[in-house]
Amino acid sequence: MKARIAVLPGDGIGPEVVTEAVRCLEAVASKYGHGFELPQAPVGAAAMDLTGEPLPAATLELARSADAVLFGAIGDPRYSDPSLKVRPEQSILGLRRELGLYANLRPAVTHPAVYHASPLKPELLAGVDILVVRELTGGIYFGEKTRSEESASDLCAYTAAEIERIVRLAGRLAASRRGRLTSVDKANVLETSRLWRRVVDRVMAAEFPQVSVEHMFIDAATMHVLRRPADFDVIVTENMFGDILTDEISMLPGSLGLCPSASLGEGTRGLYEPIHGSAPDIAGRGIANPCGTILSAAMLLRHSLGLKREAAALEAAVARTLADGVCTGDVAKPGAKAATTAEVGAAVVARLA
Ligand code: IPM
Ligand code: MG
Repeated sequence: MKARIAVLPGDGIGPEVVTEAVRCLEAVASKYGHGFELPQAPVGAAAMDLTGEPLPAATLELARSADAVLFGAIGDPRYSDPSLKVRPEQSILGLRRELGLYANLRPAVTHPAVYHASPLKPELLAGVDILVVRELTGGIYFGEKTRSEESASDLCAYTAAEIERIVRLAGRLAASRRGRLTSVDKANVLETSRLWRRVVDRVMAAEFPQVSVEHMFIDAATMHVLRRPADFDVIVTENMFGDILTDEISMLPGSLGLCPSASLGEGTRGLYEPIHGSAPDIAGRGIANPCGTILSAAMLLRHSLGLKREAAALEAAVARTLADGVCTGDVAKPGAKAATTAEVGAAVVARLA
């Protein structure tokens, strides 16, 4: 098949990890006879330096015209003052909003070869396969904001329609997996959570009676995902709870650097990015873990291009690379020699062939 994939490397380690994911996509294309066009554009601080804007119109246009977007990371210490008017983060938030990407899929799967990298005991890690479905274009992130010298506010608002569409997607995913859905909220305190809970019950009873549903408060959820992670299948939650919970859950596979994500909207176009940030402290040294971005590229093949076999092959190649001990420092065995970003990318490509 022919596909156009917009590549937005961004800042910090973004370009390094994206380079390896692009190499993997090119290897998939040549192995399976596809033609991928991979035009690049600046985003984040890199775009601010060139144009003054974190999300230039040309970058947004490229993303709109593509079948899928592969995104690296954004953020730069030069623009880290949270009170700046123009900030790199506005680029990813703008892309999510402008492309209508309301659903963020963040899987966390453990690999026995890197159990040692997780702060959790190995016996808790066996069989962990969690998929967090985070609402991505509503809630406190996008509600009305006010700020004066002496007060500030961020409105958290949800409509039933916004909740319905994310719950429906989570229900469909749970039905195709182990049939369990955990909805995370704070219904003992928040009105948005009370609405959330009602909509979850309504949609799930009407459309997915075969899926078992449980509700959990966010504070309890942060504890249970560490105490008994293997019990969870699909977790659905609102924007900010999902932001926090997915960073926590990324510690189960052993490193933020292993975790991919997909951001989806109504059609098949999606944006795919590792869940880690730009990591300026290690940028430019060739030591960043490219696996999260490569696994994001696998999600791109599956969700936007419908290439299930290719996605599974790329995921299997990453798993074999880890099993063979070709690992960057964040997940390397104590005392073992760490591989570089490019060596890990090359090892994945070799295992794909
Ligand atoms: C994420 C990030 C973003 C978010 C930031 C960079 C705006 O933390 O993708 O999880 O909060 O959504
Ligand atoms: Mg986050």
